[in-house]
Amino acid sequence: MHLSAEEFKKQRLFLAPMAGYSNLPFRRLCHRGGVDFNTTELVSARGIVYNGLEPSLRYLLIDEDTEGPAAIQLFGYDADDFYIAVQKILDNTTLSRCSAIDINMGCPVKKVCQTGAGSALMQKPEQAVKIVRKLQPLCAGAGKYLTCKFRKGYLQEENTAAEFALALAEAGVDRICIHARTAKQMYAGKADWAVFATVKNKLLTHGFGALPLIANGDIKSAADCRTIQDMAEVSGFMIGRAACGNPYIFAEIKNPEFKVTAERKIDDLQTCYLEMTEMLGEITAGKEFRSMIMPWIKGYAHSTAYRQLCGKLTYKSEWLNFFPTLLELFI
Ligand SMILES: Cc1cc2nc3c(=O)[nH]c(=O)nc-3n(C[C@H](O)[C@H](O)[C@H](O)COP(=O)(O)O)c2cc1C
Repeated sequence: MHLSAEEFKKQRLFLAPMAGYSNLPFRRLCHRGGVDFNTTELVSARGIVYNGLEPSLRYLLIDEDTEGPAAIQLFGYDADDFYIAVQKILDNTTLSRCSAIDINMGCPVKKVCQTGAGSALMQKPEQAVKIVRKLQPLCAGAGKYLTCKFRKGYLQEENTAAEFALALAEAGVDRICIHARTAKQMYAGKADWAVFATVKNKLLTHGFGALPLIANGDIKSAADCRTIQDMAEVSGFMIGRAACGNPYIFAEIKNPEFKVTAERKIDDLQTCYLEMTEMLGEITAGKEFRSMIMPWIKGYAHSTAYRQLCGKLTYKSEWLNFFPTLLELFI
């Protein structure tokens, strides 16, 4: 799929990359649930350089025919690592069909930041710029957009997003997404949506007002999107945790009348599970699906019993017997 520059700019709703959740089967549900653009979870650029694509293939896998436009997200520090990793992606028949390469500049996890990658790049903007400058011609030459996802800042109270965004804009990034928390905040506290206006103003005053800016952090409803839109002229919204257990949130935002039926939820859960078994085998899929299903069943009167039951499911036959029992919970 090739998105024209016009189409690329028009994308409104994004699924956030989430390690352990935003795999291809789940992203397909989001696509059917109204998302405009998907992103894979983070994969190490250096890992690809040293071990090739094969060990990370399950995380890198995209299929735009069934999930819509998608980006592959990489993390790392060294610009040459990124260059080689992207070259390998572009040389792969399946992966080269992605619409964009996204660089993770927001991961707060210690193991990642210690290597200078993820949100640590916000403390070294010159390195982040080097990465974008190195990748921009490669991506543009292959018809891929280059995007970056970062945070409000690195330290607890830091707000460096505007300068950081400007530096990336000058380096040639095609779209930015900001998680409105600092890295030190991890996922705690309320996201500070005021950051989007600060960034937008900075971009506008330096002639980059047209650069698509995606808002992220604690977005759970159409009302949240409107609130953010009233605060700043963002071009889209990225949703993470609120989509886990509710891939229909995108349709709900687009159409307030939209209501998902219990039958569809069960059918979708089963489809997602079966696709995971095809990808990962029965045992691994069963294990991973146990945590993926948790957000779907929380908040109901009998959730606890269902949660305990899920914790014991392993084999395909057990899962297939379990799904229909969810009808009682969902209606
Ligand atoms: C379980 C989990 C895994 C995540 N993995 C990634 C990741 O691989 N790459 C990334 O850029 N952000 C990752 N994030 C951050 C999300 O993309 C998003 O920025 C964050 O959850 C805030 O959005 P939300 O409030 O809508 O969830 C992850 C978040 C969670 C909860």
